[in-house]
Amino acid sequence: MKTGIFISIEGPDGAGKTSVLQELLPRLQAAAKVTVMSTREPGGIPISEKIRQIILDPGNSEMDKRTEALLYAAARRQHLVQKILPALADGQLVVCDRFVDSSLAYQGAGRRIGIEAVAEINAFAIEDKYPDLTLYLDVDSDTGLERIRKGRKSHELDRLDVESPEFHQRVRHAYLQILADNPDRIIRVDARENIADVVETCYSIIKEKYPDLFN
Ligand SMILES: Nc1ncnc2c1ncn2[C@@H]1O[C@H](COP(=O)(O)OP(=O)(O)OP(=O)(O)O)[C@@H](O)[C@H]1O
Ligand SMILES: [Mg+2]
Repeated sequence: MKTGIFISIEGPDGAGKTSVLQELLPRLQAAAKVTVMSTREPGGIPISEKIRQIILDPGNSEMDKRTEALLYAAARRQHLVQKILPALADGQLVVCDRFVDSSLAYQGAGRRIGIEAVAEINAFAIEDKYPDLTLYLDVDSDTGLERIRKGRKSHELDRLDVESPEFHQRVRHAYLQILADNPDRIIRVDARENIADVVETCYSIIKEKYPDLFN
């Protein structure tokens, strides 16, 4: 059976994950010998996109934090089974905008459920299918939030974006802890650089780690 490669892009709000992936994808597609697919969490397929809408709806302010963590894990499960695993079985390179580390950082540390507890429900959801490589785009929360504020109108802010600065600082610190605990899987990329440089760094890391994928 063919086995593809699974890469996740992680980082705090405004690190540039979505912008970087948008530029990285065509470069990978042009250079790789295999099909390259990008997807995102929470979402990527209709069932998970519906769960995403429930989670991010600012009207759902009464949502319990464990309910939120379970919904993320449920969306992740469906997305993994329905989209990511079939693409990997087909030998594709899958690049996913956020994956399990986001739950550990946001629900585990941001919402203070505890990283271990959130890791447990996610172990149930993903059955040990961690990414082969995680690119962690690192910015301090002030820089990240300032980018988001500049880029959006206030009515577009979702439920997570309106969290306190302390929430976002806990998220960033948790990411650094997860990075320290998973040195073989996660590589830190300095995301304070301009977008073109961050894209270049991500591209070089992938090319260096998987030279056989490229012509
Ligand atoms: N390296 C960068 N330098 C300056 N601005 C950037 C950089 N990367 C992204 N931005 C800008 O910051 C804003 C947020 O970027 P983006 O949506 O890609 O971040 P994100 O990590 O996907 O955030 P979220 O977690 O909210 O999805 C956008 O307006 C984008 O143009
Ligand atoms: Mg994004």
